[in-house]
Amino acid sequence: MNNDIFRGKLVRLSAENPEIYAEHFSRWWHDSEYGRLLDLAPGHLFSPKRTKEWLEKELEKDPPEMWLFGIRALEGDKLIGFVDLSGATPHGDTFVGIGIGERDYWGKGYGTEAMKLVLRFAFVELGLHRVSLDVFDYNPRGVKSYEKAGFRHEGRVREMILRNGQRSDVFFMGILREDWLRQFGAEYGL
Ligand SMILES: CC(C)(COP(=O)(O)OP(=O)(O)OC[C@H]1O[C@@H](n2cnc3c(N)ncnc32)[C@H](O)[C@@H]1OP(=O)(O)O)[C@@H](O)C(=O)NCCC(=O)NCCS
Repeated sequence: MNNDIFRGKLVRLSAENPEIYAEHFSRWWHDSEYGRLLDLAPGHLFSPKRTKEWLEKELEKDPPEMWLFGIRALEGDKLIGFVDLSGATPHGDTFVGIGIGERDYWGKGYGTEAMKLVLRFAFVELGLHRVSLDVFDYNPRGVKSYEKAGFRHEGRVREMILRNGQRSDVFFMGILREDWLRQFGAEYGL
């Protein structure tokens, strides 16, 4: 059984200084395909300076409104992405966002393992009841990864996105603490 809640077999969750996140986030956002997988907002670019200023404000909030982790591949300890939980509602729900910014690491299991680590953090450390996310219908890799991490499909918002003249849907997915315990509890001795 793995007792280190921030470490898996492929990745570890890390805490980075704002300037490290800023340099990486800014560079990853310059890949517009990455940006369009992550965000509905029109394509935009942020300098490392602006990203750093935003993060410094976010990360100093107490209590935190966001739990932000870097994702580091264990091999080479390279920073390859981020995963964050944005706040917790009084109902015990949080929203998760994830991005592997280094394309060479897509489709190799890193994202799913990072998601499983942050779910364990959400359910065991924060004691939350559910974790929610949304994902676009043109992101089958994301959908498959979330299914593997235990998320269920909960709904579809039709034609919410217009990109390249084509309409796309947004899927909502979620996982309850009881779903998670049933699927992964034994892995963590729960
Ligand atoms: C989404 C993301 C976090 C998933 O992490 P990942 O490490 O790439 O995912 P994994 O390798 O763990 O799993 C992906 C699964 O999708 C499958 N897959 C890959 N491309 C696919 C495609 N085009 N269609 C269907 N399945 C696909 C893979 O085969 C794998 O399944 P398998 O393990 O059964 O073979 C990562 O790809 C990422 O950050 N992408 C860019 C930004 C993004 O999409 N963020 C999420 C926004 S909601």
